[in-house]
Amino acid sequence: MSIETDPVKLMKQQVGYAAAARVQSGAIVGLGTGSTTAYAIQAIGERLQSGELKDIKGVPTSFQTIVLARDFGIPLVSLDEVDHIDVAIDGADEVDPQKNLIKGGGAAHTQEKIVDTLANQFIVVVDSSKLSDKLGTNFLLPVEVIPMAVTPVMRMLAKLGGTPTLRMGVKKAGPVVSDNGNLIVDVKFEGGINDPVELEKTLNNIPGVVENGIFASVADLIMVGEIKDGQPSVRQF
Ligand code: A5P
Repeated sequence: MSIETDPVKLMKQQVGYAAAARVQSGAIVGLGTGSTTAYAIQAIGERLQSGELKDIKGVPTSFQTIVLARDFGIPLVSLDEVDHIDVAIDGADEVDPQKNLIKGGGAAHTQEKIVDTLANQFIVVVDSSKLSDKLGTNFLLPVEVIPMAVTPVMRMLAKLGGTPTLRMGVKKAGPVVSDNGNLIVDVKFEGGINDPVELEKTLNNIPGVVENGIFASVADLIMVGEIKDGQPSVRQF
C-alpha cells in the first residue's frame, strides 16, 4: 500500500488503516461507505490476502461498498445470513463531542444506520475536519424520502425550521436517487441542531421519510486522523 501525499487523503488513509488493524480473525464486519472507510476496506482486504486475517465476513452498506469489497477480496454476506455483527467501521460528515454524528453525504445513511446500529462495536473513522462543537453547523442534514412524498416532506421540514433542498445529481440529469430508489433532501438548520436526539426521532416520524442522517448515541469509538507538526497521527475518544 502506497502512502498518500495529499494531507486530507493521508489523514483518511491513516485512520482507515488504524481501524482496520483492530479487526480480528473470525469477525463479521459492517463495512461503511465513503472515502475514509474505503481505506479501511482496502487494509482489511490486504490483511486477508496476506493471511494475517482469516475468516472475515463483510456486511456492506451501499453499492459502492459492495464493489470495493469485491475488488479487495472480502467475502460479503447479507443481514439474512448473520445473527450479529462484531464491529462496524464507517465514516461521518460531522461528529460532535458527545459522539453524535451527521452521515449521508454519500446518500448511504439508511443502510449505514441499520448496519452500524446492529454492530456490537461501531467505530467511526474521520479526518479532523469532521469534528464540530454542534451538529449542523458544518454540514447539511441529509434526509432520505420516498419520491411521491417529497413535496409534503419538504413543506414539513420547513415548518420544523429547516431550509430543505433536493439533492441534485452530478453528471446525471435530475435528482440523486439513493441505492434504495429514494430521493435525498439536504436540510439547513440555522445555528445548528440544538437537540440531535429529539430531532432524529421527530424527522423519522414524518410520513414519507425513510431515514435521516442524525446518528445519535450510536457510535462507540471515534477515531480521528490528524496531522500534527507535519506528522500524521490517530487519536480516539
Ligand atoms: C455516506 O452516505 C456517508 O455517511 C459517509 O459515511 C460519510 O459521508 C463519510 O464519507 P467520507 O469518509 O468520504 O468523508
